[in-house]
Amino acid sequence: MLSPVKTAVLVSGGGTNLQALIDAAAAGTLKSARLSLVISDKESAFALERAKKAGISTEVVVKKGKTQERFEEEVGALLEKNGIELIVLAGFMCILSGAFTKKYENRIINVHPSLIPSFCGKGFYGLKVHEAALAYGVKVTGATVHFVNEIPDGGKIIMQKAVEIEEGDTPETLQRRVMEQAEWKILPASLEKVAAELLRSRE
Ligand code: GAR
Repeated sequence: MLSPVKTAVLVSGGGTNLQALIDAAAAGTLKSARLSLVISDKESAFALERAKKAGISTEVVVKKGKTQERFEEEVGALLEKNGIELIVLAGFMCILSGAFTKKYENRIINVHPSLIPSFCGKGFYGLKVHEAALAYGVKVTGATVHFVNEIPDGGKIIMQKAVEIEEGDTPETLQRRVMEQAEWKILPASLEKVAAELLRSRE
């Protein structure tokens, strides 16, 4: 039995997707990846508390006041120091450069709260995605987990799940339903899939 793939989760906010990963690990459904490190670009991110409670090491790398290059150097140094092989962006609100994503080709996955290619790319993050979906009037939205490359939300799709829009939805009610019905399910499942494939390729 090969040891699970050392995984870092990058966060910026509440960390409910990180929690879904922690819960999947505790339930034994996430077994091919080990959650080894959580990095936040925000000191105040509640995700850090979730990580600490679960006994996962945490680091903060603030982006403000740094060049993109310097920021990525600091993140990269932590990943290397901790022997990280897979990276999950779980509500991480910084865009990574092509130089960074190339270094971790097929090793970074992201969860996005829409059915890509709708409502994605630069400027579409968090509640803004749901505001745009409601403004457009789509009847179905959802979430996507994809590999991260140099194009924002442009990498190969790993999993998607559709979610119905309901009468009277607000961006907040829709965000919550998309998380509950889609993100918290397909993110742990995608991480398990990618990590299991990585382990199989090493056998
Ligand atoms: C989630 O809905 C996630 O899909 C979204 O931000 C939220 C973070 O919530 N990410 C993006 O919009 C990235 N483009 P969380 O901190 O509770 O996981």
